[in-house]
Amino acid sequence: MEMFAVFGNPIQHSKSPVIHKMFAEQTGVSLEYEKVLAPIEGFEQSLIGFFSQGGKGANITLPFKERAFQAVSELTARAQVCGAVNTVMKLDDNRLLGDNTDGMGLLLDLQRLKFVHPNSRILMIGAGGATRGALLPLLEYGCDITLTNRTFSKVELLVNEFSALGKMCGKEISQIVSADFDLIINATSSGVSGEVPAINPNVFSDQVACYDMFYQSSLTPFLEFVTQHQVTKIADGLGMLVGQAAFSFKLWHGILPEITPVLSALYKELKG
Ligand code: ATR
Repeated sequence: MEMFAVFGNPIQHSKSPVIHKMFAEQTGVSLEYEKVLAPIEGFEQSLIGFFSQGGKGANITLPFKERAFQAVSELTARAQVCGAVNTVMKLDDNRLLGDNTDGMGLLLDLQRLKFVHPNSRILMIGAGGATRGALLPLLEYGCDITLTNRTFSKVELLVNEFSALGKMCGKEISQIVSADFDLIINATSSGVSGEVPAINPNVFSDQVACYDMFYQSSLTPFLEFVTQHQVTKIADGLGMLVGQAAFSFKLWHGILPEITPVLSALYKELKG
């Protein structure tokens, strides 16, 4: 049986094995998928050891995505742009290929939700790794992205790098004051500490959809905030997690699985 694993630290709460086993059942693929708690000092040895013992593919999660980018010998174009790798595949000649499926996973979930269409006007809040991973697929799809962040210098860097690839501009968070968007994506890590980015509530309306890349068992702080300002179309990042896994599955097995049944099962487990 082909062997797969997710590498991270911590890794205990990773849902990747469960997701990939559900995809395998759905598509009739047989696989083994385990969690690997890689030591911070020894991630590269751990990854290489797994592949030299017959591993076929790996997912990489925090805090190793940038190190995986350095460790592989070949990169897909989208991984190259992200500077981070979340999916590794062993090639026939034993070299390791690094891919990044996070942005495609987000786009797949937004399409499932009908939150996005080519030409959607998107406000993206945050300018860290999560944003970098998401920009290319959204720009290629045709979306018009306004990027903002607490620290504006990081917006300028990303706009310089990505604006040639599609419709994109940067704005200071204080300058975003009206309801000019179809979709607002929270790509900050503020939810981890129970916080909400300082965005003017005038951007919200009953027309706009709001997506939080963060998820937890209860409503996220950002989604809680937007629902207090008329927003009814909301979703958290659990679907993005399943979506990125679906594109890893496609790279390894050549089939893009359905995300909806897997997402329903995870929601049932997470929210009870
Ligand atoms: P990630 O890989 O999750 O994107 P990151 O690269 O550390 O993590 O980036 C975190 C992002 O969340 C940044 O855009 C950060 O804003 P700054 O650039 O100003 O630091 C944003 N962020 C984190 N906590 C936040 C908070 N409480 N309010 C607003 N933005 C926050």
